[in-house]
Amino acid sequence: MPSPQARRVRSDSSSPLICRRFLAFAEPSCYIRTVIAADDFRHVLGHFATGVTILTTCDGDARPTGLTASAFSSVSLDPPLVLICVDHKSQSYPALVAGKQFAVNVLCHDQEGVSRRFATTKIENKFEGVPFTLSPMGLPLLDNALAHLECATVNVHLEGDHTIFVGRVESARTGGGHPLVYYRGRYDRLSGATP
Ligand SMILES: Cc1cc2nc3c(=O)[nH]c(=O)nc-3n(C[C@H](O)[C@H](O)[C@H](O)COP(=O)(O)O)c2cc1C
Repeated sequence: MPSPQARRVRSDSSSPLICRRFLAFAEPSCYIRTVIAADDFRHVLGHFATGVTILTTCDGDARPTGLTASAFSSVSLDPPLVLICVDHKSQSYPALVAGKQFAVNVLCHDQEGVSRRFATTKIENKFEGVPFTLSPMGLPLLDNALAHLECATVNVHLEGDHTIFVGRVESARTGGGHPLVYYRGRYDRLSGATP
């Protein structure tokens, strides 16, 4: 049952109920659409427990840049492809577009502090005090991460207020430890996880 905030709208130009900004798609369509309010959408999405990553790359002046992200997924095994989704408002977005490569640092259970730091826009240099290594590909790899994947961007798809970057994995390795988990807006650990 759609929540009271959800509006049942008819997406054809004759209905006075139409208010274009509620339409999921700009062009008129004969389909009935249920549009969910942003807070409801985020609340529901929060029920999908995920790991936490930090996406990193370098900008045109070879300065490392990065952000906390959970919109990360495998796409294909052969070729080895993954995807990440990045908000167009992210400070790292221009460098990800221009640099055509990125690293996915999968965080360990004891890296909640690093995750909070990279989830903040206000910090000038997020890497200050965060140990990392520049890989042969020129990508910043955070020390003590659970896994690193280094990717060359092979495709980008603009969807809504984010862009999907598809990366071909050029190199990948794992470290020891347990994963950091994010569920319903909180950080957590996997209980009883074996190393
Ligand atoms: C657990 C968690 C997951 C997040 N996942 C994403 C994501 O997948 N994509 C994204 O663009 N922002 C995501 N964010 C928000 C960014 O980390 C946040 O907006 C950050 O401030 C962006 O930094 P920047 O503007 O310096 O690039 C996430 C934040 C948290 C705490």
